[in-house]
Amino acid sequence: MRDPTPKTVYLKDYTPPPFIVEAIDLDIDLRDDHARVRSRLAIRRNPNMRPSTGPLVLDGDELALESVKLNGRPLAQDEYRLDAQRLIIPQTPDALALETVVRIHPHQNTQLMGLYASKDGFFTQCEPEGFRRITFFIDRPDVMARYTTTIHADKARYPYLLSNGNLIAQGDEGSGRHWARWEDPFPKPSYLFAMVAAKLDRLEDTFITRSGKRARLQIYVEPGKLDQAGFAMQALKKAMKWDEDVFGLELDLDQYMIVAVGDFNMGAMENKGLNIFNTKYVLARPDIATDLDFQHIDRVVAHEYFHNWTGNRVTCRDWFQLSLKEGLTVFREQEFGADMYSRPVQRICEVRHLRATQFPEDAGPMAHPVRPQSYMEISNFYTATVYEKGAEVVRMIHTLIGKENFRKGMDLYFRRHDGQAVTCDDFVQAMQDASGVDLTQFKRWYDQAGTPVLDVSDHYDPTTQRYTLTVKQSCPPTPGQPEKLPFHIPLALGLLDRDGQDIPLWLEGDDAAHPPAGDGAPGSTTRVLSVTQPEQTFTFLRVPAKPVPSLLRGFSAPVHVRYPYSDQALAHLMAHDSDPFNRWEAGQRMATDLILKGIAELKAGRDLVVPESFVGAMARLLKGDEGYGPRDPAFAAEALSLPDENFIAEQMEVVDPDAIHAVRTRLARILAEHLRDEFSHAYRAHAVPGPYSPDAASAGKRALRNRCLAYLAETQDPQALRLAFVQFETADNMTDAMAALSILTHFDCPEREQALEAFYARWKDEPLVVDKWLRVQATSRLPDTLEKVKRLTEHPAFSIKNPNKVYSLIGAFSTGNHVRFHAADGAGYQFLADQVIILDKLNPQVAARLARAFDRWRKFDGGRQAHARAALERIRDTAGLSKDVAEIVTKALG
Ligand code: PHE
Ligand code: ZN
Repeated sequence: MRDPTPKTVYLKDYTPPPFIVEAIDLDIDLRDDHARVRSRLAIRRNPNMRPSTGPLVLDGDELALESVKLNGRPLAQDEYRLDAQRLIIPQTPDALALETVVRIHPHQNTQLMGLYASKDGFFTQCEPEGFRRITFFIDRPDVMARYTTTIHADKARYPYLLSNGNLIAQGDEGSGRHWARWEDPFPKPSYLFAMVAAKLDRLEDTFITRSGKRARLQIYVEPGKLDQAGFAMQALKKAMKWDEDVFGLELDLDQYMIVAVGDFNMGAMENKGLNIFNTKYVLARPDIATDLDFQHIDRVVAHEYFHNWTGNRVTCRDWFQLSLKEGLTVFREQEFGADMYSRPVQRICEVRHLRATQFPEDAGPMAHPVRPQSYMEISNFYTATVYEKGAEVVRMIHTLIGKENFRKGMDLYFRRHDGQAVTCDDFVQAMQDASGVDLTQFKRWYDQAGTPVLDVSDHYDPTTQRYTLTVKQSCPPTPGQPEKLPFHIPLALGLLDRDGQDIPLWLEGDDAAHPPAGDGAPGSTTRVLSVTQPEQTFTFLRVPAKPVPSLLRGFSAPVHVRYPYSDQALAHLMAHDSDPFNRWEAGQRMATDLILKGIAELKAGRDLVVPESFVGAMARLLKGDEGYGPRDPAFAAEALSLPDENFIAEQMEVVDPDAIHAVRTRLARILAEHLRDEFSHAYRAHAVPGPYSPDAASAGKRALRNRCLAYLAETQDPQALRLAFVQFETADNMTDAMAALSILTHFDCPEREQALEAFYARWKDEPLVVDKWLRVQATSRLPDTLEKVKRLTEHPAFSIKNPNKVYSLIGAFSTGNHVRFHAADGAGYQFLADQVIILDKLNPQVAARLARAFDRWRKFDGGRQAHARAALERIRDTAGLSKDVAEIVTKALG
């Protein structure tokens, strides 16, 4: 496990595997304090690598080798070599059968990688390099084998024995034990292997595919929780139908299983036919899950299901290509979300998330391209860049070539590469060949890190009615990449006239006969400009008066846009833009400008001034157009949300967390005082009658209502806090209860303590709800929050061995509580360092994720930097540090 000299792995060093494994026959015998794993591999030299004479090298991690046989003959000690990470057999024939027997210890596997024990049984996690912790294997994604898996275990304690593919045989075997054998018809990389032996309850359903095949669907959950599995089953069926309708992709198996487990490092895993999920993305019931939880379940279930084609049928050649499956699958998941919920609101949330996670990553010490060029520990590269920016890159292709060509490109991709392990280039090539659009320059998005900046200026000439936009692109340096070549950026835009109407867009040089594939036709009101040069101008013709530009509609590229908008222009866009995303964006820009100005004022000892235009815009959002109430409450809820403190921090040269917090809170309070009646009216007007349903319309109303409640509480009027408490007590669903509790947590009032106590007493036996209870306390703005968080690490509700608990308490404090984590005295940093050091001994992957909260330390003042540096150095100098954490802290300090 501990690797004293972490090596850097480079994409440029990739070579195909010298050996291929055609088939693997696994036999896993689960015992009380260990497991015995026998594996028979059918191996041959890779014909594409001839002539080759090298040794056979198998990966292995924490495996106790009991025996090794080659073609049935036990190997003597001097016929193989064993080190901490490998089994090496120098002399082998071109084709061979290799049998190994190893002993492993699932109960001691606190990393949760490989085979591990959890409350209800045994589970596996193999992506990216966990399979080597189960048996010796060529553990890389371009080695695809056919799997047969036999599991033996105690029958009463582990009634379900599951693995990938189809159950082909099972039986009892004495002493109360039983066994089951599974066969996966599809060759797959080792990272998609899974097995489960557990006592669980099962929910079953069927789905008839569009070609008429009947598929059995099963969801396995902790005993007694079947009533929390229904929503995930519906989500699965919706996802299956959607993939057939939109991409023509059908399930290729007779049986599809989802297993929920409470101890899991990540969200979920797409193992072939046997997805393993964090309980967080399966279990839901109105009284324990929020609207957002329901939505996440929809999306994660869909995401893992979509991987069956984008990831499993066509997989990655090597881990540098991770975004091939993740970027594409996140994009598919986003499109599914847009079709199931409100498209604009989904987009707003995705962009908010991208800016909160990926933009800072791209500007920090861990910045890397969507296809990284090197890594020390691949587990550290399951990042917002690979996932979310990767999805943006796929979305840009979609935008540039158009929806129909995109579908053709997908079809071609599967026709060419089904059953293969391929690269991001192969994907782009299919898109290019299917569309005829040259994507050569576009491919730079895969290889250059950093968030590009578009500086836009304009000029209007009333005599010629020509409107010219000048677009300059640049990209800041990132580690190892001081200079960037220009990107190919799809810039979607519109122009608004004085009445807020879209102007038809006629571009100089338009070729009506051959409009570019993804662009709106000449004369349409949204056009997609291809920005490819460092500086470029675009001239619009027949523009009757100086327009207000609506730039980067729908957030058509993951870039920063700088344009000198006046408050008036922003208010115009907020009120009239036909692109809802940009209507939201205009409000966010206004609020950000206001807060940044307010910070400067604060430093000069002056109070924040909130212009009437801003208050008026917020009031209009609440009132809507016709009568009382916004047309889309979900949209209004987003538009009424002020930018996060993290986001504002990213806009500053030197971050001042106290000032950000003070001014942002002040702005909320001023708004609340000006619009008290409007907020309380909207709060009452958007009550959702009838029994709870997580549908988008009801969720939207609740979101708006709870946003109003949050503003009302900002007045610190005891009445308002009382109102929150009453909502907390009377809510019949977790969304409203949790919203009230999250409001109360910020105020030092008796209701706060009463509510927290009551909540824990009621829910202490529901782990996912306890996670919420930890999170809400960790994100409180009250000054003693760190002390509370420290005390909570000792509370029976917390366990450092459970990733969900760690993320809810320590993760939430360090990434979701800007002002308290970045306390000037460095106490937040010291606390995080302590926790990272403790956790690294148990679960390096999760420890490394926590350590990422230090990423932006150089953006703070000298005092904070000194504290952060000391914390990082203390972690770095800890004896026996994992390579996971070592990579993060050395890069942060480097
Ligand atoms: N591949 C999983 C997913 O996106 C994520 C994951 C990675 C899970 C590594 C576990 C370990 O969809
Ligand atoms: Zn994924």
